[in-house]
Amino acid sequence: MSELAHPGTAGVRERILADHQALRVLLDRVGALAGKVVSDEAEAPEELRRLGLELGARFAQHLDFEDRWLGPALERSGAAGKEEAEGLRREHREQRLLLDYIVERLEDATRPKLVLGRDLQGFVQLVLEDMAHEERDLLSRIPADPGTLLPDEPSARGFAGVDT
Ligand SMILES: [Fe+2]
Ligand SMILES: [Fe+2]
Repeated sequence: MSELAHPGTAGVRERILADHQALRVLLDRVGALAGKVVSDEAEAPEELRRLGLELGARFAQHLDFEDRWLGPALERSGAAGKEEAEGLRREHREQRLLLDYIVERLEDATRPKLVLGRDLQGFVQLVLEDMAHEERDLLSRIPADPGTLLPDEPSARGFAGVDT
């Protein structure tokens, strides 16, 4: 699906759940390797760096999609939805800051592998908890239809001020 194609509300839910599933597979790999690196069972700082950067890139794309479609859909689903949308905006802002920080450290080959491993362990945990929260508390607010909950066109700037 093109990033700009109107996904419809069912499409938004499906895409977010599919993203979460793919992220969980990658998070498992990153978490397992980070654990081995931290406990000194594996000497794999380059592999950990590569996997960490792949996770960062995929997660950033996921945030963009949610900002573009999930945020506006929540905003149109009533007063409680507006609050959830504000929470989503705040969480994504914090997650982007953390992601930038971790990616900067991953790109620095002089960083000790223990530091990278611990950074990634914390990040994996945070993303797992965040996805569970979104599936439990946010996606249930988005009805399977009607498309009226979504804007007809994505805004020129995304939900969290991200350039489109
Ligand atoms: Fe999110
Ligand atoms: Fe998500």
